[in-house]
Amino acid sequence: MEQNNLMEKIVSLAKRRGFIFPSSDIYGGITGFWDYGPLGVELKNNIKREWWKNMVYKRDDVVGIDAAIIMNPEVWKASGHIAAFSDPLVECKVCHNRFRADDKEVIINHEKTPHNINGVLVPVEWTDPRNFNLLIRAYLGVVEAQQNEVYLRGEITQGVFANFKNIVSSSRVRVPFGVAQIGKAFRNEITPGHFTFRSREFEQMEVEYFIKPEEEEGEKAFDYWKKERMQWYLGLGMKKENLRFRPHEPDERAHYARSAEDIEYNAPFGWKELEGIHHRGDWDLSRHKIKYQDPDAGEEYTPWVIETSGGIDRATLFFLIDAYSEDKDRVVLKLHPKIAPYKAAVFPLLANKPELISLARKVYDDLRQHFPTAWDDRGNIGKRYYSQDEIGTPYCITVDHQSLEDKTVTVRDRDTTEQKRIAIQKLADYLKDQVYEF
Ligand code: GAP
Repeated sequence: MEQNNLMEKIVSLAKRRGFIFPSSDIYGGITGFWDYGPLGVELKNNIKREWWKNMVYKRDDVVGIDAAIIMNPEVWKASGHIAAFSDPLVECKVCHNRFRADDKEVIINHEKTPHNINGVLVPVEWTDPRNFNLLIRAYLGVVEAQQNEVYLRGEITQGVFANFKNIVSSSRVRVPFGVAQIGKAFRNEITPGHFTFRSREFEQMEVEYFIKPEEEEGEKAFDYWKKERMQWYLGLGMKKENLRFRPHEPDERAHYARSAEDIEYNAPFGWKELEGIHHRGDWDLSRHKIKYQDPDAGEEYTPWVIETSGGIDRATLFFLIDAYSEDKDRVVLKLHPKIAPYKAAVFPLLANKPELISLARKVYDDLRQHFPTAWDDRGNIGKRYYSQDEIGTPYCITVDHQSLEDKTVTVRDRDTTEQKRIAIQKLADYLKDQVYEF
């Protein structure tokens, strides 16, 4: 499939079927902001739940928190974000548009765009790059003055460090341990784009894993978390050939990172960062002047931090892209059943047969108590299948004439299109076996 074309198809499907809408659509949108529709919120919640299940519930060394978006501005001074959380910005001296100096593709495209002054074609000229801080400012209280200035958090991470002492004293965690968090972050991105890929408001899922400050421990934990995170994406069905690791060059590392490696996804617009694994060393805790006292051994030290930081909007977008397929005359989202918005859809074979409708309604009402289930009685069965295929529903259940006699239904598999007859009584358990597993 032609790659630009694929992106257009994803954006159009996302809007048409209620996954993702431009924010404030009725007023022409707002660059870098997106809303999730009825199906998008399910997909995104499923991704978040799978992440939390894996990172918190299945482990005994990670606890969760949910910190506030606005923090005391001292946090951002100490963390280095006010001084160093910036991207290089250049301005075109001819048209005054601004771009990220390190976004080579955008820069080259802009240079190819004809610019003219008084009808004469002129070459693009750039200003020198300057650092542009990405933190978004807001004001608290009734006076818009500098002393009331606060920041929307540029990463969710600092809430973990600011709560480090509270977490240690209120729970049973001991180094090595991790703190997991999911939440919104905000960045005044210079060039938002590629649909939700680079937004100004987005969600992150992170674990800050605290270890003893020893080289060997650091390498071991870094390697371990790289593998864990890659495995998580593969386990939810992302294609292996579309994922790779890419170590950061020293000059592209964030100000807090001793070393960093990205998990990249092979997007239609190139290999792009999906998640970062960062060795933050003792950067954050020492900047916040926090030490850890081991309650058993009594020793005191500043732990090092290995961080896994993924973007939920990017994961959602890449799961959609990865799952998109065109199979003969149908579009199928081959989403893993664990993240598919609906697990099943129920249809009465005919919409004008009261007995069929009534039995199908019963099946639908029952399944909805177990997992998200869709209902469709419009058009013919073929159209209903296609409609569910396009949003990734793994199983379609049809109540037909035989159902009235022997209380069985057909269950059609999204990917193989094969059908089985299953007793209504066993249906919920059968489907739960296919779509759920703790
Ligand atoms: N706490 C570390 C941190 O924030 P990062 O590499 O700046 O590290 C982590 O961001 C992840 O957050 C990225 O891998 C990406 O998935 C996501 N992310 C970052 N900026 C984003 C943006 N503007 N839009 C959408 N997702 C973004």
